[in-house]
Amino acid sequence: MVATLRNNGNPEPPIPEVVPRHVAIIMDGNGRWAKARGLPRTEGHRQGTENLRNILKACVEFGIEILTIYAFSTENWKRPRAEVRVLMSILEMVIDRELKELHESGVQIRHIGELEGIAPVLQRKIQYACDYTKDNDKLILNVAFNYGGRDEIIRAVQQIVADGIPSTEIDEDLISSYMYTSPLPDPDLVIRTSGEVRSSNFLVWQSTYSEYYFTPVYWPDFGKEELRKALLEYNRRTRRFGQTDEQINDNS
Ligand code: IPE
Ligand code: IPE
Ligand code: MG
Repeated sequence: MVATLRNNGNPEPPIPEVVPRHVAIIMDGNGRWAKARGLPRTEGHRQGTENLRNILKACVEFGIEILTIYAFSTENWKRPRAEVRVLMSILEMVIDRELKELHESGVQIRHIGELEGIAPVLQRKIQYACDYTKDNDKLILNVAFNYGGRDEIIRAVQQIVADGIPSTEIDEDLISSYMYTSPLPDPDLVIRTSGEVRSSNFLVWQSTYSEYYFTPVYWPDFGKEELRKALLEYNRRTRRFGQTDEQINDNS
């Protein structure tokens, strides 16, 4: 990858030349952000949601086409009931208050994960938000909510069997087409904030060849400049997909 930079005469720091098409973020550290300030965890989630606005704007400015955010995992149901309720109400509030603005900014909202298990009122709001914004093309925003990578694979296998697909027809493309993210490309870059270095069941099938970027910054503090740093780091990586450096250089 060429580490050239462009900045279009802007006083701002440079934007990396090679911008990943699809960025996925594990938005982690809201609780610790709040705790460090002596605030309730809820306040961390509120600030985290606020930060998402900045990141959405920055993604459009940087030319990222697809952003996938991990908002609620299938494992997060194990949290205290009150916190689960807060996390559910945040998505509901975002849809109620921000949908119009997101639509006007050209954001296409998609949901990845299982609707089943989510309260029916919220299910309907999620479906409405996706339907309302389906023709937008400025930024695709995949919201991973009640999402688990293993759960996604299990459901795909169940559906493949239910559809009576013969085993000889099962290949990578076929399985990809049964994933929630289909027909979107796999993430080029997966970012995890808060210092944890694990995937926590995120995009298990799709991230096999993604570049990972880990930062100790808590999600509420991961603003545009932090995203720029991640993109610059991405520019320094060589994606070999199993090949040698020589082969990569010959191809470019
Ligand atoms: C991320 O922040 C938000 C969700 C997982 C929904 P956390 O709530 O996990 O914050 P920490 O990891 O406890 O700091
Ligand atoms: C991953 O964060 C899930 C989301 C960001 C929604 P967690 O905070 O739930 O992950 P673990 O439990 O520390 O692995
Ligand atoms: Mg966490």
